[in-house]
Amino acid sequence: MKKVLLSLACGLLILTSSALADSMQKDRDKMMKMNSVEKMNKMKKGFGTKEDIIYAKYLWKKLETSTLNSTPATLYLGGPPHGKVREVLEGTIDNQRVIVKRNYGGKNITINKVKNNRSKYLKAITVMIQRKNYDSKNNDWFWIKYKANGTLHTTPNKTELAGKVKGCISCHSSASGNDLVFIHNKDANAEITLVNEMMK
Ligand code: HEC
Repeated sequence: MKKVLLSLACGLLILTSSALADSMQKDRDKMMKMNSVEKMNKMKKGFGTKEDIIYAKYLWKKLETSTLNSTPATLYLGGPPHGKVREVLEGTIDNQRVIVKRNYGGKNITINKVKNNRSKYLKAITVMIQRKNYDSKNNDWFWIKYKANGTLHTTPNKTELAGKVKGCISCHSSASGNDLVFIHNKDANAEITLVNEMMK
């Protein structure tokens, strides 16, 4: 009787452990599948791909070494989706036109508070850079939304905002100059600071 019980217990142990191994394998499969689904989604979306992220990192370095990330510009107030207080700079990087918009937010924010402590209120740096033959349908703009520390903002499902970002493109398509740039719309934008001493 003891033997029977023992072998039953052993059998049960083997069964549960193999079931456990089985379910672990299933979890692993699911994760692998999710990773590739995630990758596929990013490719389908046209942004947040590996190449986009590599380029965004490269560009951040260029924004730092040039004066584009540090030159102060004219602060102004604006509506959503960009931060309440903003400033826009334009220059060139690798001979390509680049527009940088710094977006500031926070409780009871004012232009003066930002002027006195830009880094405290900096929430996002949204950048458009015109890359040759990159996206001919949309004026070749590459779109990026950086956090203050240079890492990327993401969509709610964790896709990095860099590349042919649909949200940016669809809204900017309504700009009057037909080049996806709102700068022409004088009432929407403040004066742009041009930064000429760009690094090549
Ligand atoms: C719902 C509309 C909308 C969306 C979405 C949007 N923008 Fe904008 N953006 C604007 C408007 C309007 C302006 C000009 C007014 C302002 O903010 O001064 C602007 C200005 C800019 C500028 C300054 C150049 C210009 O066009 O005047 C940059 C750079 C920029 N946006 C980048 C981005 C990026 C990058 C994204 C996506 C991560 C994005 N924007 C998403 C509406 C939008």
